[in-house]
Amino acid sequence: MQTKIEDHLPANRAVITGHGSFVPAKILTNDDLSHMVDTSDEWIVTRTGIKVRHITTDKESTAHLATEAAKRALERAKLSAEELELIIVATITPEMVFPSTACFVQQALGAKKAWGFDIAAACSGFVYSLHIVQQFMENGRLNNALVIGAESLTKITNWKERTSCILFGDGAGAVVLQRKQNAGRGILFSTLGADGTYWESLCCRAYGSRHPVSRPLEDPEMVYMQIKGREVYQQAVRRIVEAVTECMTRCNLTLDDIKMVISHQMNARIIESAAKRLNLPDEKVFINIQDYGNTSAASVPIAFDECMRQGKLKKGDIVILVAFGAGVTWGANVIEM
Ligand code: UT7
Repeated sequence: MQTKIEDHLPANRAVITGHGSFVPAKILTNDDLSHMVDTSDEWIVTRTGIKVRHITTDKESTAHLATEAAKRALERAKLSAEELELIIVATITPEMVFPSTACFVQQALGAKKAWGFDIAAACSGFVYSLHIVQQFMENGRLNNALVIGAESLTKITNWKERTSCILFGDGAGAVVLQRKQNAGRGILFSTLGADGTYWESLCCRAYGSRHPVSRPLEDPEMVYMQIKGREVYQQAVRRIVEAVTECMTRCNLTLDDIKMVISHQMNARIIESAAKRLNLPDEKVFINIQDYGNTSAASVPIAFDECMRQGKLKKGDIVILVAFGAGVTWGANVIEM
């Protein structure tokens, strides 16, 4: 299929050649949560679509999840870690303040020739990272890259706050991207946005330079994620609709041309409401939040991996990845598989 944007694309393309995901074994159910805060399975399922989420133990951390997801993606791509030139880890729950989680993953994989860094764009981090790789591959400066979205959000979850603690889970998803010439597929278009005026909608105030670990916190709850649920809800629907519409306009796509829209899994109702406004039928909207909760930057690549493993995308299909999150940030990628 010839999209409008196709005429302007360079011969070099960023093609996804491998995908994988990994979640911790430990599961937290809605019933478990109902023993911790004043909530119920019925409320959580009706308001969010979430049934269970996976959570890290004290022995598991973000780099561990990221590395396991990466190994699976490399295996599918039939690429060795030594052939990687770049590793990007999208995360807001890094291994440490520094060095970057990407360096821990590079070491664990033995990817000696790769440089790497982290992206802190919250739930939009994976979509942001794909756009970065797209630029390097289209200008011919990069051949093989690994993009990972990985989070241990439950380590900054306030287990006493019922509006937020029911939402989040841990996990990682990864893709291998390779530069291909005249492949007629790959990332076609990306759109990204941010609006820092809404930073307080979703944030974790400690322990950056404004509220450093070396000084007592004025409010001990600053160590946890804080969300203004309703505000996020409304903005998320609006930005997802705008981003997907822009993708369709710029790539000259009709609804018929799109095989699947894979949104960041923040709340099934947000995704369904955006899909309704876009007139997207149910079978073109991938939802797996019931099994993972909201895993922030990991959510899009986990959903992409699952969608691929379920055989829902084949060569030549057009998929749109879309996300909205803290910052606030948002973005989307159009990919021809
Ligand atoms: O990826 C981006 C991060 N994600 C987000 O920031 C989340 C986006 N927002 C949402 O998903 C939804 O806004 C929530 C799931 C957080 C909340 O759903 P809602 O339909 O917007 O509920 P609400 O905040 O309007 O609250 C409705 C009621 C309130 O009670 P009253 O004031 O009507 O008596 C809440 O206190 O539901 C109550 N409530 C709960 N009840 C049982 C809030 N949390 C819970 C709970 N269990 N866990």
